[in-house]
Amino acid sequence: MTDLNNQPACQDLCDSNPNRMTEINDTPFGHSRRTALKGIAAALAAIGATSMATAAQAASKTYNVCKTTDVPVGSAKMFAVNGQPVAVTQPKKGTFKAFAGWCTHQQSPLSNGVGPIQTSGANMVCPRHGATFSTTSGAATGGPARGGLTKYTVKVTGTQISITA
Ligand code: FES
Repeated sequence: MTDLNNQPACQDLCDSNPNRMTEINDTPFGHSRRTALKGIAAALAAIGATSMATAAQAASKTYNVCKTTDVPVGSAKMFAVNGQPVAVTQPKKGTFKAFAGWCTHQQSPLSNGVGPIQTSGANMVCPRHGATFSTTSGAATGGPARGGLTKYTVKVTGTQISITA
């Protein structure tokens, strides 16, 4: 193992710096960096940050939404999942995306019930005031809506499309 302090160039540089050990090993609080990081991790654990993240993951569920043949390439379609509108798109052949089906302008659904969502090019169009959202990313692309749609993780198993929400 190489001892970096025995390297000639480093030795010259280090010897000329009387604060060398302070700069490398100590923080202004008088602890080593490693000790400070351990303290931060302990503090996060103490306030439950780790358990909160675990609880959030445990709360999400997977839902079967539709079949791949239900959403043709270039289209968007609304489904009811656990009582909520979910927009599924297929912007490119074999690529499926899913979003919360509520327009971010005034929280209207992006379609009048379960069924096709109006599209314009690569965007979904809200029927209420005309806001548009990317079928690929859910980002707001026009109209009065400024925020993008909430994205869901999509899994395709054979012909089954499911989401984690
Ligand atoms: S509610 Fe969708 S554009 Fe206004």
